[in-house]
Amino acid sequence: MLKTHTCGELRKEHVGQTVTLAGWVNRRRDHGGLIFIDLRDRWGMTQIVADPAQSGEAHKAASEARGEYVLQVTGVVRARPEEMVNPDLGTGEIELEATVIKILNPAKTPPFYIYSDEKVEEALRMKYRYLDLRRRRMQRNLILRHQVVKYIRDFLAERGFVEIETPVLFKTTPEGARDYLVPSRVHPGKFYALPQSPQQLKQLLMVAGYERYFQIARCFRDEDQRGDRQPEFTQLDLEMSFVERADVMSLIETLMTGIVKDVSDCELLYEPFPRLTYKEAMDRFGTDRPDLRYGLELTDVSAIAAKTEFKVFTGAVEAGGAVKALVAPGCGDYSRRQAEELEVIVQEAGAKGLAWLAVNADGTARGGAARFFEGERLAELLEATGAQPGDLVLFVADEYTMVSAALDALRREFARRLELADPKKISFCWVIDFPLFFWNEEEQRWDPSHHLFTAPLPEDAHLLYTDPGAARGAQYDLVCNGYEVAGGSIRIHDRAMQERVFELIGLDMATARERFGHMLEAFEYGTPPHGGIAPGIDRIVMLLAGEPNIREVIAFPKNQQASDMMADAPSVVEPIQLEELHIRVVED
Ligand code: AMO
Repeated sequence: MLKTHTCGELRKEHVGQTVTLAGWVNRRRDHGGLIFIDLRDRWGMTQIVADPAQSGEAHKAASEARGEYVLQVTGVVRARPEEMVNPDLGTGEIELEATVIKILNPAKTPPFYIYSDEKVEEALRMKYRYLDLRRRRMQRNLILRHQVVKYIRDFLAERGFVEIETPVLFKTTPEGARDYLVPSRVHPGKFYALPQSPQQLKQLLMVAGYERYFQIARCFRDEDQRGDRQPEFTQLDLEMSFVERADVMSLIETLMTGIVKDVSDCELLYEPFPRLTYKEAMDRFGTDRPDLRYGLELTDVSAIAAKTEFKVFTGAVEAGGAVKALVAPGCGDYSRRQAEELEVIVQEAGAKGLAWLAVNADGTARGGAARFFEGERLAELLEATGAQPGDLVLFVADEYTMVSAALDALRREFARRLELADPKKISFCWVIDFPLFFWNEEEQRWDPSHHLFTAPLPEDAHLLYTDPGAARGAQYDLVCNGYEVAGGSIRIHDRAMQERVFELIGLDMATARERFGHMLEAFEYGTPPHGGIAPGIDRIVMLLAGEPNIREVIAFPKNQQASDMMADAPSVVEPIQLEELHIRVVED
């Protein structure tokens, strides 16, 4: 080794020892005679002192060194004078008096400061990702990620799970996104599809009798990018045989609780994790991934609104829609303009408009919708919503799903404005009893709400033949701080039921056999009842790290346009490569 210790290791008890450190120059201060260098590696920082009286050569090297130079420093550990002790630094009680300093490698001036946490333009960070990754914040995030994954591996291995790798060059495994395709050189015109998840393979591993499988699996989905989405991302993919939904949920609950408590410095809000049905989540929060760190629950005021003279309200209720309200506590002093600005938020979510009123100190109301709520009507409204003097009541009237989406957006906005969502708090909840299918109006068929291998709840199985829209799936989503962090289900293990699902989603048997024939066939060789789940590692680590975007917890992520700006991928390839792959590129 070119070093005897790390830069974060030396303490008072090392005083007097001769040691060798190696690392990067974080900062260098030339005090005329003495030169101080903060030498940094991923463990920490140690102050080096180069004194010309001790070693002329070491001092010379120190004077040549600049930020980010890589140095090897040998010297004697000495205690810092009392007034020079730095309590913020692990190594703050000592310094290293250099006898030899060797410049292992010089460095160009980096395009941004490594040692400070100042905000750097995203594009620059992505282009120089290897420098960005040197920064403390990123090192903390990637190390946290490592600890989470290690915790998962140990936890599952202790419980009899086997980690098995599955191929990346495979066949379409649809999870609702577009596939990334890889052309075959050997088979002209044929393509592998990168798995959107190892879903089929983990089910086949159950047929194969492994009973408890997991994998830290890379998944690929070509879909629109968002802060919580990447074209390639990582799941803890997991499958179990001979289980019911409660078994999988309880295992994951124990795992997640352990991760938050043992690995992170966050506070876990609710134990056991609350369970909401899909309907309850939609009714109370307008979304199937509610953030339970705060209240701001929605109230259905359709019955009261129907009795008013407000056409927008009565019209929505008559058309079979809903009028729902959100109370923003203490926001009753919003000006008309401020309240109107909120309308943009609900419109972006698809709603036509936003009505509002503020509750005055004397219990009367003012604002656009106030004239429709007087006397008894207002009393009913305040009773139903719990609004108090000084609060702002916001209404959206529309089709139920539109109202939900709009008020969900508004709820998140108020949580932000009122600083209700503490990033140090972690609040999980389960959402269950989803409809097995959603109706696809455009294509006039059913879409699986999870994926096409999900079984209905046993008591709803008969509905596949009579009323598919009413069937609930044996699926479960784990939600954390407003993000869906895991999704899973008990699977169909019966060929007839699987074929019925294909039929409902409009997959004719010939296509189904072509795409999933291997699964249908496997199901005929003794398939155990099985189920599983896949927590998204990126999203979970993002929340534990208190970061707003999964890019911050992925070493080499893609940007919003799904490009790697450092390596410039995707990029054009040599004509000969295209020829070998039997591909001709057609310009738009
Ligand atoms: P699902 O599609 O719900 O289920 O995905 C499971 C979890 O993976 C994460 N995730 C993503 N993370 C980052 N970027 C993306 N583009 C992205 N897409 C999904 C989320 C999500 O909850 N095979 C099933 C699981 C199963 O049924 O066992 C599946 O993939 O955290």
